[in-house]
Amino acid sequence: MTHTITRAVVIGSGTMGGGIAAHFANAGIAVYLLDVIPPPLDKLKKHKPPAFHTASTADLITAGTLDEHEAWIGEGDWIVEAIVEKLDAKRDLVARIDRLRKKGSIVSSNTSGLPIAQVAANASDDFKKHFLGTHFFNPPRYMKLLEVIPTADTEPEVTAFVRDFAEHRLGKSVVFCKDTPNFIANRLASVGGAVLMDYALEHGYTIEEVDAIAGPLIGRPKTAAFRLQDLVGLDVSNGVATNLHGMIEGDESRDALASPRVARLVQSQLDRGRLGDKSQQGFYKKEGKSIQTLDLNSGEYRARQEPEIPSLAEAAKIKSLPKRLQFVLAQDDEAGKLARHIVYNAFGYAARRVPEISDDLTSIDRASRWGFSHDLGPFELWDALGVKETADAMEAHGVSVAPWVREMLDAGHTSFYRDGHAYEPASKSYAAIPRDPKQISLREHPVVKENKGASLIDLGDGVLCLEFHTKMNTLDADIREMLGAAVDEVESGDWKGLVIGNEGGDFCVGANLAGGLAGDPESAVKGMQDALMRVRFCAKPVVTAPFGRTLGGGVEVAMAGGRVVAAAETYMGLVEVGVGLIPGAGGCKEMVRRVVSPALKTTPGADPLPFVQRVLEVVGAAKVSSSAAEAREFGFLSEGDRIVMNRDHLLYEAKQEVLAMEAAGYAPPPRENNCYAAGRDVLAGLRAGIYVLQQGGYMSEYDAYISKKLATVLCGGDISRGQWVGEQYLLDLERAVFVELLGQPKTHERIQHMLTTGKPLRN
Ligand code: NAI
Repeated sequence: MTHTITRAVVIGSGTMGGGIAAHFANAGIAVYLLDVIPPPLDKLKKHKPPAFHTASTADLITAGTLDEHEAWIGEGDWIVEAIVEKLDAKRDLVARIDRLRKKGSIVSSNTSGLPIAQVAANASDDFKKHFLGTHFFNPPRYMKLLEVIPTADTEPEVTAFVRDFAEHRLGKSVVFCKDTPNFIANRLASVGGAVLMDYALEHGYTIEEVDAIAGPLIGRPKTAAFRLQDLVGLDVSNGVATNLHGMIEGDESRDALASPRVARLVQSQLDRGRLGDKSQQGFYKKEGKSIQTLDLNSGEYRARQEPEIPSLAEAAKIKSLPKRLQFVLAQDDEAGKLARHIVYNAFGYAARRVPEISDDLTSIDRASRWGFSHDLGPFELWDALGVKETADAMEAHGVSVAPWVREMLDAGHTSFYRDGHAYEPASKSYAAIPRDPKQISLREHPVVKENKGASLIDLGDGVLCLEFHTKMNTLDADIREMLGAAVDEVESGDWKGLVIGNEGGDFCVGANLAGGLAGDPESAVKGMQDALMRVRFCAKPVVTAPFGRTLGGGVEVAMAGGRVVAAAETYMGLVEVGVGLIPGAGGCKEMVRRVVSPALKTTPGADPLPFVQRVLEVVGAAKVSSSAAEAREFGFLSEGDRIVMNRDHLLYEAKQEVLAMEAAGYAPPPRENNCYAAGRDVLAGLRAGIYVLQQGGYMSEYDAYISKKLATVLCGGDISRGQWVGEQYLLDLERAVFVELLGQPKTHERIQHMLTTGKPLRN
């Protein structure tokens, strides 16, 4: 990398500046956060969803005011501007930064859509060379897209560095944009949103109807249209739309942004302070436990009205998006009409903006997926519906189809994408889609073995990957069997090691409660324990790669490897207590080994109580970490485990880790008495604490019962004094308690409740 970023300066501490500063801190970078007002750091710390990976991450931020601390700008390696969306204000700030920054530092603007070159028009040459747009999406920690907008003056190595840094250190996915108003994602979303809103108002749809149609039904997130407005804030989206209207005179669709119908509604909402979530009322309003909806006719809130469109329920049963959308688009009812209007206009507008906002279709599709969480971008979805048929339908609907699309079809090219290539309107031919060399796609690698629940895949270079593919990657007999088969294969063949990872929505949400423990639970649990012990003592290195929800047995799998390479966004918890159980496949043993034992090893004779207590708190309260960094604080990850910011790079990084461990002469851990069992006295202390919590009403009687069982396992059972024991000793204890609890009626109730409601029961 050509630059080194050890200190970032973020100016503007509102929604975006605060979130960006927090995310730089998440990446381990010290940040100065400046504003004209004292930055509200306390508010940022309490943000929901959390902006910081852990509470202590916030310590990397130092807040100050521009009046008092403007000199801090001179210390920044990267200065991010995220102040109010006004050209004059941004230009004034640019002049100030130009005066104070150190030569060579990078400066970027987080404008939603102001022309980047104009923001820096009056700046010095060195400033211009190091200046570009970096458009984060809200909330910056969680949204994958980063639009990067170089100007004609930006040095290419600065642009390349920013991309690299964003992808590796910040974990973002970059789309390069031209310096055109609102760039790619917001340009499409602003016009698309206005077209949708105008049609809905003209034809008298209710808010519930619009949100039922414009969401997952057509491959978009649940926030759909009106809910999204509440989330973004009507003042913000209205400001963006108004700005955009003024900047795109030549855009044939710009009138949608000035629809009088929409303007009347927006103005009336703004006048009444109904900005959305930030003012506790918008198109929806939370009243106690219920959510009221704005009646678009009366302008007052009313109880929710379920949409009465029969085809909605029919469509919801169709899993495949293209098939579902085809069904919806063919309906002659209100759902079909609105869906046709949204989808055909979205396709038409995206195609008509090429090459104005982008030369390549991939960037447009990615911006829609990564910035607005659409399942597919406009060209991908259009492909899936059939380009020619859909183009004809669009024209019949009065939507004009860009000439280059017709030209493409006339030349006999029937799709925008084929075989890893995308159609390029400029060259009128297909070009290979650039690939991220750090993104492994499991489907492109040969399968060595597979069963219904899992596959063993050859990642190349001598590394195997064990992939789970049950529903939500729950653990069952198939996975158990494949764990053993994976160790057999990697140990017997000419392999260097194994990755346990997958490309699902979550790494693993735990045991399959519905059927995974059917039959003889004792042997099922013993089977899982044995399989994970084989993983732990495998002769070749095993690296586990958790991400997303990693719960119960998922944590046990993750902890069984020789090393963990976790995605930064990993939500880990031993949550068995929630279903009336305790971890039974090594979770208790591993926590003793990872949290209690090191303390006693380094300080023989130390009091083990606080360490066992800590494990009891984490496991007994079924705590789930809000990040991988917090999972480390909970003890699920150790110092030697790695955290990868970019989830797309996880399998690649895990594979590299296997190769590095192998190259360093990997040897499995020795089998020794490496777990410190604290014994009876510590157990008595823990029991006293549980009693107090139960008496104080913090625990139900059954919670206390389970907690005492858990405490007994964590202390090594009823032994007279603290001593070192082997791993199998603790495994036998936790399995016996697990099986005993499984026979309890209250545990059955908890499991049933979880299966039917998805929520834990505190009986
Ligand atoms: P905000 O209103 O939440 O925060 C703006 C902050 O800038 C305030 O704390 C304000 O005190 C400060 N400020 C205003 N003038 C200033 C000046 N002259 N010098 C220093 N600080 C000043 O706004 P938000 O939403 O954070 O937006 C910031 C920028 O990010 C805007 O350009 C916006 O268009 C852009 N943006 C906003 C997104 C969103 O979803 N809110 C998404 C992506 C970009």
